[in-house]
Amino acid sequence: MSYHLDVTTDQATYPILIGAGQWSDLADTVQACFKPTKVVLAADHTVAELYGAAVRLALESIGCPVSLLVCPPGESSKSTDVATDWWQALSAMAVDRHAVLVALGGGVVGDLAGFVAATYLRGLPLVQVPTTLLAQVDSSVGGKVAVNLPAGKNLVGCFWQPKLVWIDPAVLLTLSSREFSAGMAEVIKYAVLRDDGLMERLETSSDEVLSRDPDTLGPLVHRCCQIKADVVHQDPRETNGVRATLNFGHTVGHAIEKLTGYDTVLHGEAVSMGMVAEARLAERIGWTEAGLADRLERVARLYDLPTELPQFSWEQWQSAMLRDKKNIADRIAFALPRRLGCVELTADVPIEAIHSIVRC
Ligand SMILES: NC(=O)c1ccc[n+]([C@@H]2O[C@H](COP(=O)([O-])OP(=O)(O)OC[C@H]3O[C@@H](n4cnc5c(N)ncnc54)[C@H](O)[C@@H]3O)[C@@H](O)[C@H]2O)c1
Ligand SMILES: [Zn+2]
Repeated sequence: MSYHLDVTTDQATYPILIGAGQWSDLADTVQACFKPTKVVLAADHTVAELYGAAVRLALESIGCPVSLLVCPPGESSKSTDVATDWWQALSAMAVDRHAVLVALGGGVVGDLAGFVAATYLRGLPLVQVPTTLLAQVDSSVGGKVAVNLPAGKNLVGCFWQPKLVWIDPAVLLTLSSREFSAGMAEVIKYAVLRDDGLMERLETSSDEVLSRDPDTLGPLVHRCCQIKADVVHQDPRETNGVRATLNFGHTVGHAIEKLTGYDTVLHGEAVSMGMVAEARLAERIGWTEAGLADRLERVARLYDLPTELPQFSWEQWQSAMLRDKKNIADRIAFALPRRLGCVELTADVPIEAIHSIVRC
């Protein structure tokens, strides 16, 4: 593989390997690291259809017995029902702690399989093989695993770090353009969080990035994983505010997802609109110099991302944002840019300023 970086948390260190590899390399690495009694491959139907047979063959050809856990694609699979089905399937397969669970897919399968790995027999080793851009740059790194409840997203979960994250940017060639663009919203977020050079690269090379050449995407995914790994290292369990800065664009973004019912707007699309709105908010209250919101709007458009907020009443916006996990008592908290490359948390934003941004 072309890149190797380590994630160090309070509990463990694990590698992220990035490069246009072969599934046989993944199989060799899994065999060398774990010598598993069995590999349980978890995927949704779409990803199982595209890559399941090849991954299975690679593992079986080096003597690893493989079993499959599948679910329908989409957020609704991140449920206690599917988790229960998978726990029961693992039990029926007589899976023991010497088995390895490989999550092959986007953030839905990564979060669901991660949660099942964390809880079955009080913990199975987990390998993340992310296949969406969002999962490669964000959800596969950092150990947050969860399922949803009818009352809200990610309400039941824990921290369960993978033992290995294996990233092949070539699998992004089969992703829909809409899902690819949604992942780019999180890439843009990292540029605001840490890296001036990254923002310039995104602005000047959009054609190259959108062509999804694995040689272009490899360094981009690597840079994002470096930033995520560094943030996770500083704040593995989201207790000191560092990890919460990853929520830039997400206070408004989560409200949009909630208000649109989670089925019309993709997470990255909501974050794109949220970043532009929150940058305008930062400008309005004098946290950052004028110009950042316009710059973000231009770069989001380069990647076909929406930037205009949907219309809701102030009461709807307020009640959706008051449910955010970052809030302190009844004050809405934001992770806002001070400048490009620096985001800080605040719960001191005047309510009139928030009103003027979402109701303009
Ligand atoms: N754990 C974390 O830290 C974290 C961070 C961000 C988001 N998330 C979670 O991630 C989830 C969203 O993840 P997502 O955006 O990856 O969605 P997803 O997993 O639903 O994948 C999106 C779609 O792309 C398809 N797909 C996946 N890989 C493909 C490929 N290579 N080619 C073709 N199609 C492919 C899937 O079948 C699915 O239909 C949400 O549940 C969110 O809560 C978790
Ligand atoms: Zn996000």
